[in-house]
Amino acid sequence: VVPSPEDHRLAGKHIIVTSGPTHEPIDPVRYIANRSSGAQGTAIAKALRDMGARVSFVTGPAEIPPPDGVDVIRVETAKEMRAAVEAALPADSAVMAAAVADWHVLNAQGSKIKKNAAGQAPTLEFAENPDILAWISQLECGRPELVVGFAAETNDVIAHATAKRLRKGADWIVANDVSPATGIMGGTENAVTLISDSGADEWPRMAKADVARRLAERIADALIGPVL
Ligand code: CTP
Ligand code: CA
Repeated sequence: VVPSPEDHRLAGKHIIVTSGPTHEPIDPVRYIANRSSGAQGTAIAKALRDMGARVSFVTGPAEIPPPDGVDVIRVETAKEMRAAVEAALPADSAVMAAAVADWHVLNAQGSKIKKNAAGQAPTLEFAENPDILAWISQLECGRPELVVGFAAETNDVIAHATAKRLRKGADWIVANDVSPATGIMGGTENAVTLISDSGADEWPRMAKADVARRLAERIADALIGPVL
């Protein structure tokens, strides 16, 4: 499964990778977030880099540091992430591994929200964020040749992920089961199924770094062709 260190098939290719969570402000000191560590996206960026690609790594505020040898673009919110992805185009491929917050706070405040004397709690209003994967997949001009999304599901993984691929217009979806029993969320291993127009390819459970290397090889197969 590990590509040989001599495999530089992605040399000359530009690939955008999104990674990590996004933070959506409530006020200048508070935000809405999620539990993404950024581990899988970071591993993918490294694997693509190691195969010779130029990588634009658009990352939310992740726990782990971004890799060396890639162009790092740090963002906070989903809206900033979308703008950064747009600014990084054109690209040969885009891999959307970020756990983008689905909503932002519509009534975010410019100054710190204070408790009031009546003990009344504030009410947050939410509005949906731009779907970066759907947007890039459906670009009429300058769409990357290969768009890869992720789908972390807790039930009916293949059915949900297959529907997501079609709804958003992505070429591939890397689906994984993140139900608590698997212990995958926040861990070092992942068990994924690669969903494309030719069906569902279930990979054995392996280290996130190996999932990343195998995905980078598949991307090279698709953009360049298989190693002979
Ligand atoms: N994604 C994105 N922009 C968003 C939401 C999701 O680019 N605003 C991307 C993620 O990076 C991932 C894929 O879409 O590659 C699927 O994310 P997921 O959260 O599973 O899908 P949603 O469409 O948000 O559906 P839901 O959370 O309701 O399952
Ligand atoms: Ca979501």
